[in-house]
Amino acid sequence: MAQDKYKVVPSVIGRFAPVVAERAEGSWFYTKDGEKWLDLAVGIAVVNTGHTHPKVIAAAKAQMDKIVHAQANMFYNDTVVDAANKILEIVPGDFDNVLFINSGAEAVENAVKLAKQSTRRPVTIAFKGAFHGRTHMTMALTCSKAQYRGYYEPLPGGVYHARYAYPYRTPASEDPVDFAISDLRKVITTECWPDQVASILVEPIQGEGGFIVPPAEFMQEVRKIADEIGALLIIDEIQSGFGRTGKWFCMEHYGVTADIVTIAKGIASGFPLSAIVSRSEYFDKCKPGTLGGTYGGNAVACAASAAGIDAIRDEGMMDNATKQGEKLRGFFTKLQETYPNIGEVRGLGLMDAIEIVKPGTKEPDAAAAVAFKNACIERKVLTLLCGMYDNCVRFLPALNIPDDAMDYAMGVWEEAAKVAFA
Ligand SMILES: Cc1ncc(COP(=O)(O)O)c(C=O)c1O
Repeated sequence: MAQDKYKVVPSVIGRFAPVVAERAEGSWFYTKDGEKWLDLAVGIAVVNTGHTHPKVIAAAKAQMDKIVHAQANMFYNDTVVDAANKILEIVPGDFDNVLFINSGAEAVENAVKLAKQSTRRPVTIAFKGAFHGRTHMTMALTCSKAQYRGYYEPLPGGVYHARYAYPYRTPASEDPVDFAISDLRKVITTECWPDQVASILVEPIQGEGGFIVPPAEFMQEVRKIADEIGALLIIDEIQSGFGRTGKWFCMEHYGVTADIVTIAKGIASGFPLSAIVSRSEYFDKCKPGTLGGTYGGNAVACAASAAGIDAIRDEGMMDNATKQGEKLRGFFTKLQETYPNIGEVRGLGLMDAIEIVKPGTKEPDAAAAVAFKNACIERKVLTLLCGMYDNCVRFLPALNIPDDAMDYAMGVWEEAAKVAFA
Protein backbone atom coordinates (compact mmCIF):
# COMPACT_ATOMS: atom_id res chain seq x y z
CA MET A 1 0.00 0.00 0.00
CA ALA A 2 2.77 2.45 0.88
CA GLN A 3 3.85 2.60 -2.74
CA ASP A 4 5.10 5.95 -3.99
CA LYS A 5 2.48 6.26 -6.72
CA TYR A 6 -0.24 7.02 -4.13
CA LYS A 7 1.64 10.15 -3.11
CA VAL A 8 0.20 11.80 -6.22
CA VAL A 9 -3.07 12.21 -4.28
CA PRO A 10 -2.88 15.45 -2.28
CA SER A 11 -3.01 15.00 1.48
CA VAL A 12 -5.86 17.54 1.59
CA ILE A 13 -8.12 14.70 0.38
CA GLY A 14 -8.95 12.92 3.64
CA ARG A 15 -9.46 9.15 3.55
CA PHE A 16 -11.51 6.88 5.81
CA ALA A 17 -10.04 3.51 4.75
CA PRO A 18 -6.30 3.26 4.02
CA VAL A 19 -6.78 0.56 1.37
CA VAL A 20 -6.91 0.31 -2.42
CA ALA A 21 -10.35 -0.69 -3.68
CA GLU A 22 -10.14 -2.65 -6.92
CA ARG A 23 -13.71 -3.67 -7.60
CA ALA A 24 -17.08 -3.48 -5.91
CA GLU A 25 -20.45 -5.17 -6.08
CA GLY A 26 -23.63 -4.42 -4.16
CA SER A 27 -22.80 -3.56 -0.54
CA TRP A 28 -19.23 -4.85 -0.73
CA PHE A 29 -15.91 -3.76 -2.17
CA TYR A 30 -12.75 -5.79 -2.64
CA THR A 31 -9.21 -4.50 -2.21
CA LYS A 32 -6.11 -5.09 -4.24
CA ASP A 33 -4.87 -7.21 -1.35
CA GLY A 34 -7.89 -9.50 -1.61
CA GLU A 35 -9.79 -8.12 1.38
CA LYS A 36 -13.59 -7.94 1.40
CA TRP A 37 -15.12 -4.83 2.99
CA LEU A 38 -18.69 -3.98 3.89
CA ASP A 39 -19.41 -0.49 2.53
CA LEU A 40 -21.77 1.51 4.75
CA ALA A 41 -21.03 4.76 2.95
CA VAL A 42 -21.54 3.80 -0.72
CA GLY A 43 -19.53 6.77 -1.93
CA ILE A 44 -21.29 9.11 0.55
CA ALA A 45 -24.86 8.25 -0.41
CA VAL A 46 -24.06 8.07 -4.13
CA VAL A 47 -24.32 4.40 -5.08
CA ASN A 48 -27.78 3.99 -3.59
CA THR A 49 -28.51 1.02 -5.88
CA GLY A 50 -25.36 -0.78 -4.64
CA HIS A 51 -22.04 -0.82 -6.45
CA THR A 52 -22.08 -1.74 -10.16
CA HIS A 53 -25.79 -2.54 -10.30
CA PRO A 54 -26.12 -4.73 -13.42
CA LYS A 55 -29.01 -2.74 -14.93
CA VAL A 56 -27.22 0.57 -14.42
CA ILE A 57 -23.99 -0.72 -15.90
CA ALA A 58 -25.79 -2.27 -18.88
CA ALA A 59 -27.60 1.01 -19.61
CA ALA A 60 -24.37 3.01 -19.38
CA LYS A 61 -22.50 0.56 -21.65
CA ALA A 62 -25.28 0.63 -24.24
CA GLN A 63 -25.28 4.43 -24.24
CA MET A 64 -21.51 4.60 -24.73
CA ASP A 65 -21.88 3.05 -28.17
CA LYS A 66 -24.32 5.80 -29.23
CA ILE A 67 -23.15 9.16 -27.91
CA VAL A 68 -21.32 10.21 -24.74
CA HIS A 69 -21.22 14.00 -24.72
CA ALA A 70 -24.53 15.21 -26.09
CA GLN A 71 -23.70 18.81 -25.22
CA ALA A 72 -26.88 20.50 -24.09
CA ASN A 73 -26.34 23.78 -25.96
CA MET A 74 -25.66 21.99 -29.25
CA PHE A 75 -28.76 19.82 -29.74
CA TYR A 76 -31.38 17.71 -27.95
CA ASN A 77 -30.71 14.10 -27.09
CA ASP A 78 -33.42 11.59 -26.16
CA THR A 79 -31.43 9.83 -23.42
CA VAL A 80 -30.91 13.14 -21.65
CA VAL A 81 -34.47 14.35 -22.14
CA ASP A 82 -35.95 10.98 -21.11
CA ALA A 83 -33.89 11.01 -17.90
CA ALA A 84 -35.15 14.53 -17.13
CA ASN A 85 -38.76 13.44 -17.65
CA LYS A 86 -38.23 10.39 -15.44
CA ILE A 87 -36.87 12.66 -12.71
CA LEU A 88 -39.93 14.91 -13.03
CA GLU A 89 -42.14 11.84 -12.42
CA ILE A 90 -40.58 11.18 -9.01
CA VAL A 91 -39.85 14.64 -7.59
CA PRO A 92 -42.93 15.72 -5.64
CA GLY A 93 -44.30 19.14 -6.57
CA ASP A 94 -45.44 21.15 -9.52
CA PHE A 95 -42.36 21.08 -11.80
CA ASP A 96 -41.76 21.08 -15.53
CA ASN A 97 -38.04 21.88 -15.97
CA VAL A 98 -34.83 19.99 -15.13
CA LEU A 99 -31.41 21.59 -15.57
CA PHE A 100 -28.55 19.08 -15.50
CA ILE A 101 -25.14 20.03 -14.16
CA ASN A 102 -22.38 17.95 -12.58
CA SER A 103 -21.90 18.13 -8.82
CA GLY A 104 -23.92 18.88 -5.73
CA ALA A 105 -22.21 22.23 -5.20
CA GLU A 106 -22.90 23.18 -8.80
CA ALA A 107 -26.58 22.33 -8.32
CA VAL A 108 -26.76 24.60 -5.27
CA GLU A 109 -24.92 27.37 -7.14
CA ASN A 110 -27.39 27.17 -10.02
CA ALA A 111 -30.41 26.98 -7.71
CA VAL A 112 -29.32 30.13 -5.88
CA LYS A 113 -28.64 31.87 -9.21
CA LEU A 114 -32.06 30.83 -10.56
CA ALA A 115 -33.73 32.27 -7.46
CA LYS A 116 -31.75 35.51 -7.67
CA GLN A 117 -32.33 36.07 -11.36
CA SER A 118 -36.00 35.12 -11.41
CA THR A 119 -36.90 37.19 -8.33
CA ARG A 120 -34.36 39.96 -9.02
CA ARG A 121 -33.60 39.84 -5.28
CA PRO A 122 -30.08 39.48 -3.81
CA VAL A 123 -30.32 37.59 -0.50
CA THR A 124 -30.13 33.89 0.37
CA ILE A 125 -31.10 32.54 3.78
CA ALA A 126 -29.52 29.25 4.88
CA PHE A 127 -29.30 27.46 8.23
CA LYS A 128 -26.69 27.04 10.90
CA GLY A 129 -25.17 23.57 10.65
CA ALA A 130 -25.83 23.39 6.89
CA PHE A 131 -23.54 21.86 4.31
CA HIS A 132 -24.02 22.81 0.66
CA GLY A 133 -20.60 22.34 -0.97
CA ARG A 134 -17.09 23.67 -1.41
CA THR A 135 -17.30 26.41 -4.05
CA HIS A 136 -17.15 29.98 -2.80
CA MET A 137 -20.93 30.56 -2.80
CA THR A 138 -21.68 27.16 -1.31
CA MET A 139 -19.01 27.71 1.36
CA ALA A 140 -20.76 30.95 2.24
CA LEU A 141 -23.98 28.96 2.62
CA THR A 142 -22.26 26.23 4.65
CA CYS A 143 -21.53 26.47 8.34
CA SER A 144 -21.47 22.90 9.61
CA LYS A 145 -17.76 23.25 10.46
CA ALA A 146 -15.10 25.95 10.29
CA GLN A 147 -12.92 23.62 8.22
CA TYR A 148 -15.21 24.06 5.22
CA ARG A 149 -14.93 27.85 5.16
CA GLY A 150 -11.99 28.88 7.33
CA TYR A 151 -9.06 30.32 5.31
CA TYR A 152 -11.42 31.23 2.44
CA GLU A 153 -12.74 34.57 3.63
CA PRO A 154 -14.02 36.81 2.26
CA LEU A 155 -16.93 34.69 1.07
CA PRO A 156 -19.81 36.04 -1.05
CA GLY A 157 -22.17 38.31 0.87
CA GLY A 158 -25.94 38.44 0.92
CA VAL A 159 -26.07 35.19 2.90
CA TYR A 160 -27.62 34.94 6.38
CA HIS A 161 -28.03 31.93 8.64
CA ALA A 162 -30.90 31.04 10.94
CA ARG A 163 -31.17 28.30 13.55
CA TYR A 164 -32.16 24.81 12.33
CA ALA A 165 -34.57 22.71 14.42
CA TYR A 166 -32.25 20.36 16.33
CA PRO A 167 -34.46 18.71 18.95
CA TYR A 168 -31.62 16.95 20.82
CA ARG A 169 -29.73 20.21 21.36
CA THR A 170 -32.65 22.57 21.94
CA PRO A 171 -32.73 23.90 25.53
CA ALA A 172 -35.26 21.85 27.54
CA SER A 173 -37.33 24.97 28.24
CA GLU A 174 -37.86 25.62 24.52
CA ASP A 175 -39.90 24.01 21.78
CA PRO A 176 -37.48 23.01 18.97
CA VAL A 177 -39.70 24.32 16.18
CA ASP A 178 -40.59 27.64 17.86
CA PHE A 179 -36.96 28.10 18.90
CA ALA A 180 -35.74 27.76 15.31
CA ILE A 181 -38.59 29.54 13.56
CA SER A 182 -38.45 32.58 15.86
CA ASP A 183 -34.76 32.86 14.95
CA LEU A 184 -35.57 32.63 11.22
CA ARG A 185 -38.14 35.43 11.61
CA LYS A 186 -35.57 37.49 13.49
CA VAL A 187 -32.89 36.97 10.83
CA ILE A 188 -35.15 38.01 7.96
CA THR A 189 -36.24 41.18 9.76
CA THR A 190 -33.07 42.30 11.55
CA GLU A 191 -30.29 41.26 9.15
CA CYS A 192 -31.93 42.04 5.82
CA TRP A 193 -35.22 43.23 4.31
CA PRO A 194 -37.70 40.37 3.86
CA ASP A 195 -38.55 41.67 0.38
CA GLN A 196 -34.89 41.31 -0.61
CA VAL A 197 -34.78 37.56 0.10
CA ALA A 198 -34.56 35.57 -3.13
CA SER A 199 -34.55 32.15 -1.52
CA ILE A 200 -34.52 30.14 1.65
CA LEU A 201 -32.26 27.10 1.24
CA VAL A 202 -32.77 24.12 3.54
CA GLU A 203 -31.70 20.49 3.88
CA PRO A 204 -34.67 18.30 4.87
CA ILE A 205 -32.24 16.34 7.09
CA GLN A 206 -29.05 18.19 7.91
CA GLY A 207 -26.37 15.87 6.54
CA GLU A 208 -22.82 16.93 7.38
CA GLY A 209 -24.29 18.84 10.32
CA GLY A 210 -25.12 15.55 12.06
CA PHE A 211 -28.05 13.83 10.31
CA ILE A 212 -30.42 16.06 12.22
CA VAL A 213 -34.05 15.16 11.54
CA PRO A 214 -36.23 18.22 12.14
CA PRO A 215 -39.89 17.94 13.18
CA ALA A 216 -42.20 18.13 10.15
CA GLU A 217 -43.64 21.40 11.49
CA PHE A 218 -40.24 23.06 11.09
CA MET A 219 -40.17 22.36 7.36
CA GLN A 220 -43.83 23.37 7.06
CA GLU A 221 -43.15 26.69 8.83
CA VAL A 222 -40.12 27.39 6.63
CA ARG A 223 -42.36 26.82 3.58
CA LYS A 224 -44.94 29.24 5.03
CA ILE A 225 -42.38 31.94 5.70
CA ALA A 226 -40.92 31.66 2.19
CA ASP A 227 -44.45 32.21 0.82
CA GLU A 228 -45.13 35.11 3.18
CA ILE A 229 -42.08 37.04 2.01
CA GLY A 230 -42.28 36.01 -1.65
CA ALA A 231 -39.00 34.06 -1.57
CA LEU A 232 -38.42 30.75 -3.34
CA LEU A 233 -37.90 27.68 -1.18
CA ILE A 234 -34.91 25.59 -2.28
CA ILE A 235 -34.85 22.12 -0.74
CA ASP A 236 -31.41 20.52 -0.93
CA GLU A 237 -32.07 16.80 -1.43
CA ILE A 238 -28.53 16.09 -2.56
CA GLN A 239 -27.77 13.60 0.21
CA SER A 240 -31.34 12.68 1.25
CA GLY A 241 -32.82 12.01 -2.20
CA PHE A 242 -33.33 9.00 -4.48
CA GLY A 243 -34.87 6.62 -1.96
CA ARG A 244 -32.32 7.25 0.77
CA THR A 245 -34.93 7.91 3.49
CA GLY A 246 -37.39 5.23 2.30
CA LYS A 247 -39.22 7.70 0.02
CA TRP A 248 -38.05 9.13 -3.26
CA PHE A 249 -37.33 12.44 -1.54
CA CYS A 250 -37.09 13.25 2.14
CA MET A 251 -39.46 16.23 1.91
CA GLU A 252 -42.28 13.72 1.35
CA HIS A 253 -42.01 12.77 5.04
CA TYR A 254 -43.02 16.34 5.93
CA GLY A 255 -45.69 16.98 3.30
CA VAL A 256 -43.72 19.96 1.99
CA THR A 257 -42.79 20.84 -1.58
CA ALA A 258 -40.19 23.26 -2.89
CA ASP A 259 -39.90 25.84 -5.66
CA ILE A 260 -36.46 24.50 -6.57
CA VAL A 261 -35.03 21.10 -5.63
CA THR A 262 -31.31 20.35 -5.82
CA ILE A 263 -30.41 16.72 -6.53
CA ALA A 264 -27.11 14.89 -7.04
CA LYS A 265 -25.31 11.90 -5.42
CA GLY A 266 -27.89 9.05 -5.75
CA ILE A 267 -29.18 10.54 -9.02
CA ALA A 268 -27.01 8.31 -11.26
CA SER A 269 -25.66 5.44 -9.12
CA GLY A 270 -22.08 6.71 -9.24
CA PHE A 271 -21.91 8.53 -12.55
CA PRO A 272 -21.25 12.25 -12.10
CA LEU A 273 -24.52 14.10 -12.56
CA SER A 274 -26.60 16.63 -10.68
CA ALA A 275 -29.65 18.71 -11.43
CA ILE A 276 -32.01 21.40 -10.31
CA VAL A 277 -35.69 20.75 -10.71
CA SER A 278 -38.00 23.75 -10.92
CA ARG A 279 -40.62 25.52 -12.99
CA SER A 280 -40.39 27.17 -16.39
CA GLU A 281 -42.03 30.29 -14.88
CA TYR A 282 -38.69 30.90 -13.12
CA PHE A 283 -36.31 29.63 -15.80
CA ASP A 284 -38.10 31.74 -18.43
CA LYS A 285 -37.15 34.88 -16.49
CA CYS A 286 -33.44 34.09 -16.95
CA LYS A 287 -31.40 35.29 -19.88
CA PRO A 288 -30.12 32.43 -22.10
CA GLY A 289 -26.62 31.29 -21.21
CA THR A 290 -26.74 32.51 -17.60
CA LEU A 291 -27.13 29.01 -16.10
CA GLY A 292 -25.61 25.63 -16.98
CA GLY A 293 -22.17 24.61 -18.26
CA THR A 294 -20.24 22.53 -20.77
CA TYR A 295 -20.71 19.11 -19.21
CA GLY A 296 -24.26 19.27 -17.87
CA GLY A 297 -26.30 16.19 -18.75
CA ASN A 298 -23.70 13.69 -19.87
CA ALA A 299 -25.61 11.08 -21.87
CA VAL A 300 -23.96 8.07 -20.20
CA ALA A 301 -24.72 9.49 -16.75
CA CYS A 302 -28.31 10.18 -17.85
CA ALA A 303 -28.74 6.59 -19.10
CA ALA A 304 -27.42 5.36 -15.74
CA SER A 305 -29.77 7.73 -13.92
CA ALA A 306 -32.87 6.42 -15.69
CA ALA A 307 -31.82 2.80 -15.14
CA GLY A 308 -31.08 3.49 -11.47
CA ILE A 309 -34.52 5.05 -10.93
CA ASP A 310 -36.15 1.97 -12.49
CA ALA A 311 -34.05 -0.34 -10.31
CA ILE A 312 -34.94 1.53 -7.10
CA ARG A 313 -38.64 1.33 -7.97
CA ASP A 314 -38.82 -2.16 -9.51
CA GLU A 315 -36.67 -3.88 -6.91
CA GLY A 316 -38.47 -2.48 -3.85
CA MET A 317 -35.38 -0.67 -2.60
CA MET A 318 -37.29 2.03 -0.73
CA ASP A 319 -39.22 -0.57 1.26
CA ASN A 320 -35.94 -2.28 2.07
CA ALA A 321 -34.44 1.05 3.16
CA THR A 322 -37.39 1.58 5.51
CA LYS A 323 -37.14 -1.95 6.91
CA GLN A 324 -33.36 -1.99 7.35
CA GLY A 325 -33.37 1.53 8.77
CA GLU A 326 -35.86 0.50 11.46
CA LYS A 327 -33.68 -2.51 12.25
CA LEU A 328 -30.56 -0.32 12.46
CA ARG A 329 -32.15 2.26 14.74
CA GLY A 330 -33.75 -0.47 16.85
CA PHE A 331 -30.34 -2.09 17.30
CA PHE A 332 -28.67 1.15 18.44
CA THR A 333 -31.58 2.10 20.68
CA LYS A 334 -31.08 -1.24 22.47
CA LEU A 335 -27.31 -0.72 22.57
CA GLN A 336 -27.92 2.69 24.16
CA GLU A 337 -29.24 0.89 27.29
CA THR A 338 -25.75 -0.57 27.82
CA TYR A 339 -23.79 2.40 26.49
CA PRO A 340 -25.16 5.81 27.52
CA ASN A 341 -22.37 7.19 25.32
CA ILE A 342 -24.98 6.97 22.57
CA GLY A 343 -26.82 10.21 23.28
CA GLU A 344 -29.29 9.93 20.44
CA VAL A 345 -30.20 7.50 17.68
CA ARG A 346 -31.88 9.24 14.75
CA GLY A 347 -32.61 9.01 11.05
CA LEU A 348 -35.12 8.13 8.38
CA GLY A 349 -34.80 5.06 6.17
CA LEU A 350 -31.11 4.42 5.59
CA MET A 351 -29.89 7.92 6.49
CA ASP A 352 -29.08 7.26 10.14
CA ALA A 353 -26.67 8.40 12.82
CA ILE A 354 -25.76 8.00 16.45
CA GLU A 355 -24.64 11.07 18.38
CA ILE A 356 -21.88 10.24 20.86
CA VAL A 357 -21.66 12.11 24.16
CA LYS A 358 -19.98 11.80 27.56
CA PRO A 359 -22.29 9.49 29.56
CA GLY A 360 -24.82 11.28 31.72
CA THR A 361 -24.33 14.55 29.81
CA LYS A 362 -24.90 15.93 26.34
CA GLU A 363 -21.27 16.95 26.03
CA PRO A 364 -20.08 15.88 22.56
CA ASP A 365 -17.44 13.14 22.63
CA ALA A 366 -15.64 13.28 19.29
CA ALA A 367 -12.84 10.99 20.51
CA ALA A 368 -15.30 8.18 21.30
CA ALA A 369 -17.02 8.64 17.92
CA VAL A 370 -13.63 8.34 16.19
CA ALA A 371 -12.81 5.26 18.31
CA PHE A 372 -16.11 3.64 17.25
CA LYS A 373 -15.50 4.47 13.59
CA ASN A 374 -11.91 3.17 13.78
CA ALA A 375 -13.04 -0.08 15.42
CA CYS A 376 -15.45 -0.55 12.48
CA ILE A 377 -12.69 0.21 9.96
CA GLU A 378 -10.33 -2.27 11.67
CA ARG A 379 -13.07 -4.86 11.15
CA LYS A 380 -13.41 -3.90 7.46
CA VAL A 381 -16.71 -2.09 7.76
CA LEU A 382 -16.48 1.31 6.08
CA THR A 383 -18.17 3.84 8.34
CA LEU A 384 -18.29 7.66 8.25
CA LEU A 385 -18.54 10.46 10.78
CA CYS A 386 -20.42 13.76 10.68
CA GLY A 387 -21.76 16.41 13.01
CA MET A 388 -21.01 19.99 13.94
CA TYR A 389 -19.01 18.66 16.89
CA ASP A 390 -17.48 15.74 14.94
CA ASN A 391 -19.26 13.38 17.33
CA CYS A 392 -21.80 11.60 15.11
CA VAL A 393 -21.32 8.27 13.38
CA ARG A 394 -23.40 8.08 10.22
CA PHE A 395 -24.69 5.09 8.30
CA LEU A 396 -25.51 5.24 4.59
CA PRO A 397 -25.75 1.65 3.33
CA ALA A 398 -26.91 0.75 -0.16
CA LEU A 399 -30.72 0.82 -0.30
CA ASN A 400 -30.72 -2.87 -1.23
CA ILE A 401 -28.45 -3.99 1.60
CA PRO A 402 -29.50 -7.56 2.35
CA ASP A 403 -30.36 -8.97 5.81
CA ASP A 404 -27.11 -10.92 6.11
CA ALA A 405 -24.96 -7.84 5.49
CA MET A 406 -26.97 -5.85 8.04
CA ASP A 407 -26.62 -8.70 10.58
CA TYR A 408 -22.87 -8.74 9.93
CA ALA A 409 -22.74 -4.96 10.52
CA MET A 410 -24.61 -5.32 13.80
CA GLY A 411 -22.09 -7.89 15.02
CA VAL A 412 -19.28 -5.45 14.23
CA TRP A 413 -21.08 -2.50 15.88
CA GLU A 414 -21.48 -4.54 19.06
CA GLU A 415 -17.72 -5.19 19.15
CA ALA A 416 -16.92 -1.58 18.21
CA ALA A 417 -19.09 -0.26 21.05
CA LYS A 418 -17.21 -2.50 23.51
CA VAL A 419 -13.91 -1.05 22.30
CA ALA A 420 -14.94 2.59 21.95
CA PHE A 421 -17.22 3.05 24.96
CA ALA A 422 -15.27 0.94 27.48
C1 LIG B 1 -26.83 18.39 1.30
C2 LIG B 1 -25.63 18.53 0.42
N1 LIG B 1 -25.57 19.57 -0.43
C3 LIG B 1 -24.52 19.75 -1.24
C4 LIG B 1 -23.44 18.88 -1.23
C5 LIG B 1 -22.27 19.11 -2.14
O1 LIG B 1 -22.20 18.11 -3.08
P1 LIG B 1 -20.84 17.86 -3.93
O2 LIG B 1 -19.84 17.30 -2.97
O3 LIG B 1 -21.25 16.90 -5.01
O4 LIG B 1 -20.43 19.18 -4.47
C6 LIG B 1 -23.46 17.79 -0.34
C7 LIG B 1 -22.32 16.86 -0.28
O5 LIG B 1 -22.12 16.14 0.66
C8 LIG B 1 -24.58 17.62 0.51
O6 LIG B 1 -24.64 16.60 1.37
